[in-house]
Amino acid sequence: MLKVKNNNLKEITDELASLASNPSERTLGLSPDMFLSEELATAELEQIFYKEWSCIGREDDIPNIGDFVTFKIGDQPIIVVRSADGSIRAMSNICRHRMMTVAEGHGNTRQFSCPYHGWTYSLEGSLVGAPHMTCSKNFDKEELSLRVLRCEIWHGWIYVSLMDEITSVADRLEQLEAIVQPYEMEHYVTVFVEDWEWNTNWKILCQNFMEGYHLPVAHRSTVGRNFPIEQTIFDSDGASEWFTYQCFLKPNDMAFGIAHPMNQRLIGPSRRTSVMPTVFPSHMYVLAPDHLWYLSLQPDGVGKVRMRYGAALAPEVIQYAENERTLVDEFKQLLDKTQEEDRLLVESIFENAKAPVSIAGPLSWLEREVHEFTQYLARKLA
Ligand code: FES
Ligand SMILES: [Fe+2]
Repeated sequence: MLKVKNNNLKEITDELASLASNPSERTLGLSPDMFLSEELATAELEQIFYKEWSCIGREDDIPNIGDFVTFKIGDQPIIVVRSADGSIRAMSNICRHRMMTVAEGHGNTRQFSCPYHGWTYSLEGSLVGAPHMTCSKNFDKEELSLRVLRCEIWHGWIYVSLMDEITSVADRLEQLEAIVQPYEMEHYVTVFVEDWEWNTNWKILCQNFMEGYHLPVAHRSTVGRNFPIEQTIFDSDGASEWFTYQCFLKPNDMAFGIAHPMNQRLIGPSRRTSVMPTVFPSHMYVLAPDHLWYLSLQPDGVGKVRMRYGAALAPEVIQYAENERTLVDEFKQLLDKTQEEDRLLVESIFENAKAPVSIAGPLSWLEREVHEFTQYLARKLA
């Protein structure tokens, strides 16, 4: 049966609600319309990304006073900076004069200077200089600070929200805390962070990263080797309103992904267990005893997704490395190759979602997180 593209938001969100209400052993993946609808993409920005926490990266990306990074939550550019008192702050990256973007990329600065007419802002966002404005009777420096945004640090992650009234990250992730705390990931040392953009819908990439079902097949030449999957993935009852996760028990003899001999924090099976949390909507990471790698996604329209992609190593892995540069280079090559394997998958799925006879099929029990993601989307959109 040929499919007619449906852009009716009500019908799509009704279908989403119906999918979400299925028991997980009788559910399906998201339907093609959910990846293609412009109306749904607008609703996702308004109902999800502008109202939730987004992960901007890691605290050690900006260790020194004046270090800053930029990021976009939907269409909203933001600056996150280590301010003069050492705390991390977030603010709108839009000049209060005529709305130019104030800062680009990342770096270190003593103050932010708008490239258009030179208005300057302190690290706290206060307007401290504005040339040739003395004749303007409606100019009041005190009223023209960059808009400050909610910012929270949680176990080394920086989260920002555009909402003033929002429950704290710590409250939302209280149950996750117990699971990740023994790893002490806040002490992991970031070894790279990059921004990438792929040609797919953000939800396809979310679904891809959060499930382990594809690892031994799609990643058999990279991170999926050595995964006898039914023994290695153990189903954790991970459902929560704000996150989900999956655990992997690695074989004893793996060279990568298990605790370093000098790791004193983890004991017993946790020394070879990785946790793979997804903090809704789009912060996902693999937390292994010796490393972590993460993606934080933002949609860029229906068919593009921006991602901040980074990785960190446990402190003892760095400390006892024979050659740190070689170690980091090989680690990055492995993750980059894995990323490329995923890119081909998720871009292909997006293209196929446009095909006249594409249709979503049933999920495996190894894709429980995918169904929980559907349920999260339904709570926000339906
Ligand atoms: S827009 Fe920034 S100084 Fe004019
Ligand atoms: Fe993958």
